[in-house]
Formats: sequence, structure tokens, C-alpha cells
Amino acid sequence: MTLATSARVVARARPPRAPARGGTRTAAGVPDARAGRDGDGDDGDGDGDHREGARDVERAIRDDGGTTPEYLARASTPSERFQESSWGDAALAESCLRAMRVQWTHGFSSTPAGFPTCTHGFGEILAGMQPAAADVALGECFDASSASVLDPFMGGGTTLVAGQCRGWRTVGVDVSPLACFVSANRNWRADEESVRVMVETAARAVARADERAEEEAGEGDAGVPRPWLPIRRAVREVTVDGPPRIAEALWFCMSVALQRTQKSQNKRRPKGRGKKNRGVGGRDAASANAEAFSKVVDEYATRLRQFKEVCDRNDPPAPLASIHNVDIRKFALAEDERVDCVLTSPPYPAVYDYLSFARKVRAGSGAVVSSSNVDGPTSSYVNTVVPGDRNWPKEWLEGEIGSRRALRSDPHAFKDIWQREQNDWLRVVADSLVPGGRAAVMVGDGANINTRTSLAAAAGLFNLRDIAGCTMKLTATMSDGALYNQARTEHLIIFEKPRE
Ligand SMILES: C[S@@+](CC[C@H](N)C(=O)[O-])C[C@H]1O[C@@H](n2cnc3c(N)ncnc32)[C@H](O)[C@@H]1O
Repeated sequence: MTLATSARVVARARPPRAPARGGTRTAAGVPDARAGRDGDGDDGDGDGDHREGARDVERAIRDDGGTTPEYLARASTPSERFQESSWGDAALAESCLRAMRVQWTHGFSSTPAGFPTCTHGFGEILAGMQPAAADVALGECFDASSASVLDPFMGGGTTLVAGQCRGWRTVGVDVSPLACFVSANRNWRADEESVRVMVETAARAVARADERAEEEAGEGDAGVPRPWLPIRRAVREVTVDGPPRIAEALWFCMSVALQRTQKSQNKRRPKGRGKKNRGVGGRDAASANAEAFSKVVDEYATRLRQFKEVCDRNDPPAPLASIHNVDIRKFALAEDERVDCVLTSPPYPAVYDYLSFARKVRAGSGAVVSSSNVDGPTSSYVNTVVPGDRNWPKEWLEGEIGSRRALRSDPHAFKDIWQREQNDWLRVVADSLVPGGRAAVMVGDGANINTRTSLAAAAGLFNLRDIAGCTMKLTATMSDGALYNQARTEHLIIFEKPRE
């Protein structure tokens, strides 16, 4: 266990460029776009975790002049539900604990009340950091003067959205074309005119789709449920000669609408009724889908406006996010582009297959628009011609770190390969940081690998010191006295690069 104390000031009070709320800095400052709906922060497990410790929370809020959001107030109290431990610099370790309590209390797809939702969580990916937890880490785990951040495993771009909300320069890398597509669209800082054009173009598509809702599947539309074809064709027609950025935004909304309706249909579908029934539905289903698409566009417009509003509170506003679709092991920042911090949640050992998820979403989402002229920031995801939806480009098949597939294909070799992969990406992190910069890594154990030990060994090769961190567990003692692991053990580890 490292017990290093840092000579550097723990970043708890970087002079806010955005107006701070009460005594605690957050990127908040505008009302939650979904407050009063599902932005209440309950993790949905029905155990009423909001009520737990309510008196402590109320006291904490009162002490802070009544302005600290509840989720932050709760994060300052040791959890009674999770088993927490920490190491290293005491103040920094406490900040790690606060970030992880927010992560474990609120999960990753929705945001707690009091935190600006912006574009966070819009568009599905497999796993991610809780945006409010990422914001706590940005605000508390780095040097007070930090103003730039790299996420080498950007996923849906949580770090980048949160960083821009603070006025920081942001850089994101991901090997998955889906992650880059989602991140580029979550990080779009659209001006009001672009949002207006997007909404109007969508309305024209919906009107056109309504006129031809009887249409059936045609050639080359394999993989897309039939009732989606009218709106999909209409979107293609209304965007084909328009601005590429608007086209990409609408295809993003189309993919979100498809994901959402398929998810709710799967929930409703009685057992035994399988995929073969997915394609039917006729005029009513086609109109309902056009309507679903229109709602998604409206929600995206609201979220884009909120994101821009939060970003514009910084003087000057952050530069636009820089997004790279590449294996992190092949990535390098020029010396004058190095960053103050790295904040990331890398793949956990053998938990997901991110690239195969990207291919699956692409095949089923209707984002196969090879005949359109879409030319946005991540156009290759929607623009690459994929014959029969199965002959994927080489880059969509290779380069993923720690996949479940890798464990299955060679269980004996997995651990050594994993360690080499950690060495390779932590080398890039060390090269990307300015001297004295820090990396905060949120990672979970799996496949019998203790990721804290594994990452610390890799980081040590590149002179990155493990200066503080915390571990969260959830275990229960069974009637036979055995200890049962109820949730994946996770760590938040802070590494620091020496000043020279
Ligand atoms: C846990 S997710 C990151 C989630 C992200 N932090 C967020 O909050 O949205 C891990 C990501 O690592 C990406 N990844 C896996 N191997 C990679 C590699 N070699 N280079 C870059 N990204 C990779 C996956 O595509 C996935 O998006």
C-alpha cells in the first residue's frame, strides 16, 4: 500500500470560472433538464436509498446554506451500504471516496438531481462513468490549476462533456467507432441556429414519412425493422443535400430512437414471440416510430442547449473537444498538446466486447446510410459501406483491450496479455501528461485479476506513482459463513507523474 503524501495542493478549490454553488464546486449552475422526472438519482433498485441517511443529508445541506445538491452532501458521508477503504494522501483519498460514492449510488446512465444533465447519457453505450462522479474527480482529484484532460477510453464522452462544462481543453480516444459516434454527438456545441435547423429538418422528415407510412422494406435495408423504413428514408432525403453536421445529428437521433423503442418493445413482448414479428406493424407503427424519432430530436435539442449554456458560462469557453477513433496504444500527443490530467474508466478484465457491440448497434440501428453524403466528425460509422452488414472494416474488428472474447479464446494466456496491454496504455498516459500531471483511473476487478495491483505495476514502469485512491466493495456473509461478492470490486486510483 502506498502511503505517499503529495507536496502538491489537493485541488478542492480551483477558482471557478463558472459560478460555484454554495461551498462546493460543481459544474452545475443551471437547472437539471430532467429535474422532477427521472433525474431523481435513485438507482431504481427499489430499496429507497434516498431515504437512507436522510437526516444526515438534511443536516449537511442546512450547514452549507441549503445550496449543496443532495447527491454531493451524501457523498461526504461514509456509506453504510458499501465497504469502503482508501490509501495515500488523506485529502485526496477522501476526494476519491466522494467520487466513488456518487458513482456507486447513482450508476451511470442517468444523473442525480442538482447536476446539469446536458448531453450525458444520451445514446446507449455499454458502460460508463457516472457524470456527477466524473465531475467530482475533475474538481477534486487534480491540481487546482488544471485546465486540460485526456480520456484514453472515452466511451460516450462523459469526461469530455464534464471537462468542457468546466471550461477545460478535452481530448478523447476510443477504438470503438460507436463510442466515437456517440461522443462526437454528445460533445457537439451547437449554436442556436444549428439546433433550429436540426429541429426543422426533422419536422420535414416526419411530415414526409407520414405521407408514405404504408411503404414496405426495399432492397439493401436488411437489419432495419420495417416500420422504421419510412422515417429512415425521409431523413435520408431531407438531409442528403444539407449540412453534413445536421445529417449526422439526425442519424444519431435515429439510432437513439431505435434503441429506445426496441428496448421498450423487448420489455413488453410476451415470452415466445421472437424477432420474426419485429418487422410488421403497418401504418400505425410507422407513424409511432416517426413520432418517437421526433421526440428524441426535441430532447436532444433541449440537452444541446443546456450543454452550450453551461459551457458558455466559462470565460473563455473551452476549446471544442478533440476526438480520435484509434487504439490508444497507437496514439500520441505532441509535446505542446500534453494534458494536465487524465480521467478515465478503462475496460475491465473480460467484462464486455465493445467492438462487437458497436457492430451490433450499427447493423440493427438503421445507421447504414452508405448512399447518403453524411460527412460529420465521425461519419465513417454511418458512412462506411458495409456489404450485407457483415463484412466489417478491419478497424472495427481489432485493437480492443481486455475483451471477454479474448478470455474465451485463450483463458490461459489472458492474464499475461492483460498485463502487457496495461503496460502499453499506461505508457501513453505517462507520455501524454505534463510533468506533475495526474491520472485518475476508475477500474473494476474481473477474471481473477486485482486491477489495482495490475495497474500499479504497469504505472510503475513509467514512473507514475500511485499517490492515493479508494476501493469500493459490496459483500455479504452467507449462512454458512462464506463471503459472497455481491458486486464487482472497483477502485479509483490516482497516479502522479514526477515534476521532472
Ligand atoms: C468502460 S468504457 C469507457 C466509458 C467512458 N469512460 C464513459 O464514461 O463513457 C471502456 C472503453 O474502452 C474502449 N476501448 C477498449 N479497448 C481500447 C483501445 N485499445 N483503445 C482505445 N479504447 C479502447 C471501449 O471501446 C470502451 O468504449
